[in-house]
Amino acid sequence: MEPTLYTIVIFSAVLAFYRVYRRWTRFSLADVPGPEPESFLLGSLPEYFQSPVGEADFKWQARYGHVVRVKGILGTDRLLISDPKALQHMYHSGYNIRKQDLRAEVTSVLTGPGLAWANDAAHQRQRRINSPAFGTADARSYIPIFAAYANVSTCDFMIEAEMLAQMQTIMQAGHETTATTISWTLFELSQHPDMQAKLRAEIQDTERAIHARGDTEFKYTDLEAMPYTIAVMKETLRFHPVSQVSTSLLVLSLLLTRACIRRFNGVREAARDEVLPLSKPIILVASIPGYNRNTDVFGPDAHIFNLERWLDGTVQMTTPLGVYGNLLTFGTGHRACIGWRFAVYEYQSFLIELAKNFEFSMDPSLANKVLRRAALVMVPTIAGEQEKGPQLPIIIKAAF
Ligand code: HEM
Repeated sequence: MEPTLYTIVIFSAVLAFYRVYRRWTRFSLADVPGPEPESFLLGSLPEYFQSPVGEADFKWQARYGHVVRVKGILGTDRLLISDPKALQHMYHSGYNIRKQDLRAEVTSVLTGPGLAWANDAAHQRQRRINSPAFGTADARSYIPIFAAYANVSTCDFMIEAEMLAQMQTIMQAGHETTATTISWTLFELSQHPDMQAKLRAEIQDTERAIHARGDTEFKYTDLEAMPYTIAVMKETLRFHPVSQVSTSLLVLSLLLTRACIRRFNGVREAARDEVLPLSKPIILVASIPGYNRNTDVFGPDAHIFNLERWLDGTVQMTTPLGVYGNLLTFGTGHRACIGWRFAVYEYQSFLIELAKNFEFSMDPSLANKVLRRAALVMVPTIAGEQEKGPQLPIIIKAAF
C-alpha cells in the first residue's frame, strides 16, 4: 500500500474508533429527544403556552420521557424536567440555579425587587429576612401576615423599595394562588358527590369532638388530624397545580438518571446516575404538572383524580422533593414557596367552611368544557368562551 493511502486508512480508522468511543462514553444535550419546533422563530413555545395547561407536558412526557428538549425562541434549547432525581439535584444544590434573567425582569415589572425577583446573594438575604414571618408557629396562630412581617427584627436591612416589593409579591403570590386552588377543589367536589359526602362527614365528626371538649373553633391539631380532608387537598394540589412552571437557569451541572441516559443514546446502559458539567448555562423548566403526574411517584393512575392514593400509601417518598406531600405544587429547595404553610392552613379553613355549609354540583354538559388556562395562575375557563375570562359555573345549594 502507498504510504499516503496507508496514513489515510490509519487516520480514518482512529477517527471512527474515537467517534464510537465518544458515542459510548460521552453524552451530549443533542441526544435528548423532544418535539419538532413549529417554527425557528418561536420554537415549540406557542404549543406549550397556548394549549390547556399541562397538555404539552403530558404529551411530551409520554413520548420522550421525563427530560425533554424543547426549542424556544430562535432555536434556543431548554430542558423540560419531570424526573424527581434531576429536579432534586437542580433545586437542592444551593445557588447552582438562578432565575432566568428575562423571567426575573417580568417579575420585577409585576412586583418590584422582591423575593420572587431576587437571585443569588440578594435572594439569600431577602429569604433570611422574610422566613421568620412564615414559620410553622406563625402559620398556625394565624397572626395576620403583615403584622408578623412588621415584627421581623431584621427589617432594617431592607430598603424601602424591597419592603414595598415584598408586600406586592405576597399579595400577588398569596392571593390568586390559594383562591384558584379553592376553585379547582370546588370543581372536583362538584364532580364527585361521594367524596363531598365523606368530606362533610369528617368535618362534622371533627366539629362534634371539638364541641364535646368545650371548644368552639378548630385548632391546628384538629386540622392536622383530618386525613380525608387532607387527602382532598393534596389530590387537588397534585392534579391542579395553579403555578404552571418554575423556570431557572442552571449554571453548573445537570444530573441525569441511568434511565434517562439509556433512553437518550439508545446504546449505553449507564452504571449509575450521572452529573453532567455544562459548558454553558442552559434553561431548565421544572414541569410542575408533569412531575405531579409522574407514575413512578404517584402510581400508575396518576392521570386520574383519585384521592385514595394519599390514604393507601401509593405515593412514593423515596426521592423527597416538594415541601408538602412530595408535590412540586409549591416548588422546592431554596426557591420553594415561602408561604406554603400559611396557604395550607388557609386553604383547609376555607374548605371546611365551604364543604360544611354548601353542596356543589355542575351541569355535566359543562363539566367536559372546563379548560385549564395559564393566566399568571392556572384558571378554569369554558371551551369556546375564553374571551370571557375565568369561569366555573357551579351550582351551589345550602347543605342540610
Ligand atoms: C395554593 C397556594 C400557593 C401555591 C400553589 C404557590 C406556589 C408557589 C410556587 C410554585 C413558587 C415557586 C416559584 C418558582 O420556583 O419560581 C412560589 C413562590 C413564592 N410564593 Fe407561593 N404559592 C401559594 C401560596 C402562597 C402564599 C399564601 C404566599 C404568601 C403569603 C406565597 C408567597 C410566595 C413567595 C413570596 C414566593 C417567592 C419565594 C422565593 O422566590 O424565594 N405563596 N409559590
